Amino acid sequence: MLLNLLEETRYEKVPVKIYDNDSEASFDVAKRIAAIIKQKQAEGKQAVLGLATGVSPIKVYKELIRLHKEEGLSFKNVVTFNLDEYYPMQPDAEQSYVRFMKEQLFNHVDIDMANVNIPDGTLAEQDIAAFCLAYEQKINSYGGIDVQVLGIGRTGHIGFNEPGSAPNSGTRLVTLNDLTRRDASKDFGGKENVPTKAITMGIGTIFKAREIILLGWSGKKASIIKKAVEGNISPDVPATYLQTSDNVEFVIDQAASVDLTRFDLPWLVKDCVWDDVLIKKAVVWLAKTLNKPILKLTESDYNNNGMAQLATEFGPVYNINISIFNNIQHTITGWPGGKFGADDSQRPERAEPKVKRSIVFSPHPDDDVISMGGTFIRLADQGHEVHVAYQTSGNTAVWDDEMLRYVEFAMDFARSQSQDAAYLDNLYKSMVEFLKTKQPNQSDTEPIRTVKGLIRKGEAIASARLAGLADQRIHFMDLPFYDRGKFQKEVSYEDDIQQTMQLLRDIKPHQIFTAGDFADPHGTHKVCFEIILEAFTRLRNLGESWTKDCWIWLYRGAWHEFEIHEIEMAVPLSPQEVYRKRMAIFKHQSQKDVPVFPGDDAREFWVRAEERTQETARLYNQLGLAEYEAIEAFVRWKFE
Ligand code: F6R
Repeated sequence: MLLNLLEETRYEKVPVKIYDNDSEASFDVAKRIAAIIKQKQAEGKQAVLGLATGVSPIKVYKELIRLHKEEGLSFKNVVTFNLDEYYPMQPDAEQSYVRFMKEQLFNHVDIDMANVNIPDGTLAEQDIAAFCLAYEQKINSYGGIDVQVLGIGRTGHIGFNEPGSAPNSGTRLVTLNDLTRRDASKDFGGKENVPTKAITMGIGTIFKAREIILLGWSGKKASIIKKAVEGNISPDVPATYLQTSDNVEFVIDQAASVDLTRFDLPWLVKDCVWDDVLIKKAVVWLAKTLNKPILKLTESDYNNNGMAQLATEFGPVYNINISIFNNIQHTITGWPGGKFGADDSQRPERAEPKVKRSIVFSPHPDDDVISMGGTFIRLADQGHEVHVAYQTSGNTAVWDDEMLRYVEFAMDFARSQSQDAAYLDNLYKSMVEFLKTKQPNQSDTEPIRTVKGLIRKGEAIASARLAGLADQRIHFMDLPFYDRGKFQKEVSYEDDIQQTMQLLRDIKPHQIFTAGDFADPHGTHKVCFEIILEAFTRLRNLGESWTKDCWIWLYRGAWHEFEIHEIEMAVPLSPQEVYRKRMAIFKHQSQKDVPVFPGDDAREFWVRAEERTQETARLYNQLGLAEYEAIEAFVRWKFE
């Protein structure tokens, strides 16, 4: 058993403990911290904790609070040192780590605030060096840190030790990496408001802790966790330095573990139970790794790349190659609504009925055309009854000056028609007044939100018309959760679900296309998907007969694409369709040039859409399939 585990983890250079979910993991970490506090209490000593901010430790702190309130865990003997603070930063500012720590932990336990240490974001620049030295000395004066909690940034930073940090660095003023600032932009209401600097403990400081626990949750962390755990030690990924410590453990959830070799490419480290999905994944990986078409993969390619077991169990390998090649070939269809009259036994969609009712759900008003514009156009061209449902107004993603321009237009137009524009004049003035003092992250007033929403509505109509839709098939849901989420912490989705059920009841679709892209910056896509799924499930449970014949297809948005082995329907686009799709995306003028929420990618949305679909086409071709201009990819949602 132990031998097996050693074998499986042989690519991993630090101990990794994987939990089903972040709650279970956080309970255990809190228990470990509590044990240290109690042990020190028993010895009449102080426990010195190194603490982090961010989303990663929040549940650990919650559990520590519970242990204090319900099980009498006292923090009287606890001294804390926080990793970092933005610079400059006032302690009572919303984004301050002092405020974060108070709200998430200190205000709820019996810690003596004199024992709390957090880098000071209010210092004059010339005083920072002395402060940092004193911070280090203070840690040493307590005999060092007993247990250090860490998160990991997508740059691989620990604390704010960004790429380029030295392994022996101490507490100091640092410049934040661009990606880190982008990740923090939501908290600050735009990247431009995120400080460019921070004061952080160094890697050397962190290393002196007697125990280091790095926390990582969710798929968002999977790729950096793999680099930190399996990659070569390098200043490019500062967390890799932790590989040289004997006192470190990575505590992660399953979602954050998926890129580790033992899960992602298990054939490289162990014998596998080969099913269709794993065989396809492995063969596609082999072809991509060796840059060879599938049909040219040989016995020795399999043997030399950890796939000997597969070759032995299912070989000769040429048969495996042919079966996977055919499988991928059958994902390709120019008929995303099915081809009437054709044998559909090997096609991704059903031939019947000839005319399908299809509904494309678009979380924001432009996801439909960005993500599946070509397929959308094809469905309409091929005579299906295509509906599009814009789930949210997308009002947050319109620039303020753009909004004012439209109100000015309305005023000018009213005047040009000799109409009284006094009402609009007053409204305009109040908008200008509001914007003068608008704080980053402050919600817009209702009229401003309305104008912004209408701008996006007009763009979406123009775009859907260009794709070939009649106006009565364009639905604006304006789901209430979207605006409500800005004012309330606990958001209920009941009315959103009811509204979605009603629309589905009205249309009774044969096909639902929905964003299965859960990486958009604000998480809106995921919420929108869950609302659809809940609405559909309830209707199914109510016995609505059309639900038995309705297929749900997932597309991915501007942020990332499915892996080739996952794709179940691949819709090729001709150069003309690519162009038409581009024109449809262009109708979303408020999102062009520099959008309010560009995410991690500096490219414009139409460029991303084209490059992504061209890349899918290139990969298909590299595997030995026909060469297309572009391919849009879909995965079918299957209920458990
Ligand atoms: C926080 C800190 C950072 C975060 C890291 C991960 O004090 O120093 O290193 O731990 O950016 O942040 P989250 O947990 O928000 O993903």
